[in-house]
Amino acid sequence: MRRIVLGVALLVLAACVPPEEPTGAEDFAAYCSACHGPAAKGDGTMVSGLTAKPADLTRLSRRNGGEFPKLRVMAKIWGYTGGRDGAAIMPNFGPLLDSPLVPYDSGDGRETPTPLRLVQLAEHIERLQE
Ligand code: HEC
Repeated sequence: MRRIVLGVALLVLAACVPPEEPTGAEDFAAYCSACHGPAAKGDGTMVSGLTAKPADLTRLSRRNGGEFPKLRVMAKIWGYTGGRDGAAIMPNFGPLLDSPLVPYDSGDGRETPTPLRLVQLAEHIERLQE
C-alpha cells in the first residue's frame, strides 16, 4: 500500500514539474541571431535588408560606462513584445512571454515578475559583454 501511495505521489509531482524551457542561448539563436549575428556582434545575415543597423550587443556594458544596462535591455526586448514602439524593426517575441514569471531586478532594486525566457535572454547577453 505504501508503495502505491509513493507511486501516486511521484506521478503527481512529475505532472507539476513545468516543461523544460529553452536556454537563453537557444532563444538568442532562434529569435535574435538573424539580425544581431550568432555572436551578437550586429552582423546577422538579415542585416542588409534592414533600414537600421542591429546593435552590437557585446558592447552594451562598454557603451554604458562599464555597467550592463539591464533595464534598457529588458525594456527593449519586453517593450517590443508589447508593441509600444510603432517603428519597431525587431519582431514580436510573443512566445517568449508565455514562459513562467520569475522575480527579476533589472537594476532599480525591485523584483518585477518577468517572463523566465526574457530573463534568460538578458542574462545570456550580459555574459557576452566584452
Ligand atoms: C529583424 C532584426 C532584429 C531581430 C530579429 C532582433 N533585433 Fe535587436 N535590434 C535590431 C536593430 C535594427 C536594432 C537597432 C535599432 C533599434 O534599436 O531598434 C536593435 C537593437 C537591439 C537592442 C538595443 C541595444 C542598445 O543599444 O540599447 C537590444 C538590447 C536588442 N536589439 C536585443 C535583441 C534581442 C534580445 C533579440 C532577440 C530576442 C533581438 N534584438 C532581435 C534588429 C533586430
